[in-house]
Amino acid sequence: MNYSLTGILGAALGLAFLSQTAVAETANDLAQSPRSAMLAQTCAGCHGTQGYLQNSAFMPLAGMPTTQFVTAMKSFANGSRPSTVMGPLAKAFSEDEIKAMAAYFAQFPKNEAQ
Ligand code: HEC
Repeated sequence: MNYSLTGILGAALGLAFLSQTAVAETANDLAQSPRSAMLAQTCAGCHGTQGYLQNSAFMPLAGMPTTQFVTAMKSFANGSRPSTVMGPLAKAFSEDEIKAMAAYFAQFPKNEAQ
């Protein structure tokens, strides 16, 4: 065998990198992006990691259709939907950030506790 271990590892890493790049070019770009996941972590304290909850004290976000999510956030922000905490919170995000979070939560199946 003439293959060195580092050569094989290098090739494997190269392939992993290439497939990552391919993923980033698909329509799922926004859902998969680290930025979307980072923004969504702001919500994990109340809505659960990846939008899943063990109990139903707060509304789950996983699997919510993106249009429903964006509408909910906008109506919290403009006060047309009454809220306790979501109003001021929703105001803190730009439209672009809300879309990124919508894509992030929508990619997970509904009601599937992790
Ligand atoms: C401090 C707890 C808390 C945090 C943090 C929080 N939420 Fe909420 N969320 C709530 C509560 C409580 C409600 C119910 C409405 C209300 O009273 O504000 C709600 C409702 C919602 C709804 C409506 C759900 C439905 O079924 O219609 C959406 C969408 C939502 N939150 C998104 C988010 C997002 C996105 C974040 C992160 C940026 C976030 N929330 C962070 C407590 C929280």
